[in-house]
Amino acid sequence: MDFFAKSLFSLKNLLASKASQSVLGLDIGTSSIKVVQLRKEKEQAVLETYGEIALGPYANMQVGQAVNLADDKLIEALKDVLRESNTKTKRAAVAIPLKSSFVTIINIPSLEGKDISEMIHLEARRYIPVPISEVVMDWWVFPEEESEEKTADGRKFIKVLLVAIHKDTINEYRKIISSSKLELDKFEIETFSMIRSSLGRETSPVAVIDFGASTTKVAIVDFGIMKSSYSINKGSQDLTLALSNSLGVDFKRAEETKREIGLSDLPEHKEMVNIMEPILEYIFSEIRSVITDYQRKYKQTINRTIITGGGAMLKGLTEFSVKHLSMEVNLADPFLKTEYPAFLGGSLKKAGLSFSVAIGLALLDL
Ligand SMILES: Nc1ncnc2c1ncn2[C@@H]1O[C@H](COP(=O)(O)OP(=O)(O)OP(=O)(O)O)[C@@H](O)[C@H]1O
Ligand SMILES: [Mg+2]
Repeated sequence: MDFFAKSLFSLKNLLASKASQSVLGLDIGTSSIKVVQLRKEKEQAVLETYGEIALGPYANMQVGQAVNLADDKLIEALKDVLRESNTKTKRAAVAIPLKSSFVTIINIPSLEGKDISEMIHLEARRYIPVPISEVVMDWWVFPEEESEEKTADGRKFIKVLLVAIHKDTINEYRKIISSSKLELDKFEIETFSMIRSSLGRETSPVAVIDFGASTTKVAIVDFGIMKSSYSINKGSQDLTLALSNSLGVDFKRAEETKREIGLSDLPEHKEMVNIMEPILEYIFSEIRSVITDYQRKYKQTINRTIITGGGAMLKGLTEFSVKHLSMEVNLADPFLKTEYPAFLGGSLKKAGLSFSVAIGLALLDL
C-alpha cells in the first residue's frame, strides 16, 4: 500500500449494507479525515466500510502535514473520502477537537428538591471563560462519588463533569457537514470517542493518550468516566518537521524517514532518533504532569497507559513510553468492539490506530 497516495486507503462494500441502520463516525483531524461506517446486528457493531484521506494535498502540502483548510477545500476532501470509501448513509456523528472544548469537574452543593440543572448553570458561570449564552453545555453527575468536603452549613457536594463547546465551533461543523450532504446526528469531543473505542471494562484508573499530528491528547479514565483531560500543543508532525529542518530534507522525505526508522536503536539511526527525542521528551513531561496531578488530587495510582492515534504507530513508541512513564503501556485496539472479516485483521491492526476517534463516534451513534 502506497501511503503517499492522496487517499490512504478505502474499502468498498465490505459487507452488504442496510444503509438505514448504518451510522458514520467522522473524525476531521488536522492531518487527515477518518471515516467509518458501522451497522448494528444482533447487538453487535459490524464494520461496513472505512477510509482515510490526507488533508495536506488539498493545501499543496504533504501527506502527514497538519493544515488549516478553507471550508471549500475541507468539503471537497470530505466528499472525496466519502465517495472513495463508498459510504451508504448520511447519518453522521462528528468529533469536536479537545482544544476547541472546555471540560472540567465541578462541585455543586447538594440541595434537596432544587433543580440540579439550574444549579449547574449558576455554577458553570464561574468556570467557563466565555458567556454561557455563547456555548452549548452538557454534564454528567457522578452518582457514587460525593466529595469529602462539606459546605459551611454541613451539606455535601456533588461532583459533576461539565463540558462546553462554543456555538461558533458547532455552527462551523454544521455548515461543513450539511454542505457535504450529510446529516449531523451527534457531536462529541474527540477524547470521549477515543476512550469508548480504546477501553474495555477497566476497574482501576488508566491514562489514554492520542498521538495526533498537531496535538497530543491525554485523558485519565476511572470506571469509564473521564476525570481529567489535556491537549498538548505538540504532535507527531513536529517530529517530521524537526527531521526536515535538522537533516535539510523536504517534509515528504522526513515523513518517510520517521515512519521507516521510528525510534530505532541501531547505531546508524542514532542521529535521527536524537533529533526526535527532545520533542517526545517534552510531550512526555507534559503527560507525566497530568498523571501526577491526577494521582495527587484523587489519591489513586495509575498503573497503565493506553496509546493510540496515528502518531502511536511510531516504531518503538511503546517501549519509549514505558521508560518515560514507568508503567505498563499498551497499544489500543480501536476495532476491538466491532466485528469485521478475518482477512482484514492484519491491515486494521496496522492502520487502525488512527481510527480510534471515528470508531468511538460510530459506536456512540449505534
Ligand atoms: N507508521 C507511522 N509511524 C510514525 N508516525 C506515523 C505513522 N503513521 C502515521 N503517523 C503519524 O501520525 C500522524 C497522524 O495521526 P492522526 O491521524 O491521529 O492525526 P490527526 O487526527 O490528523 O491529528 P490531530 O489529532 O492532531 O488533529 C501524522 O503526524 C503521521 O506522520
Ligand atoms: Mg486526531
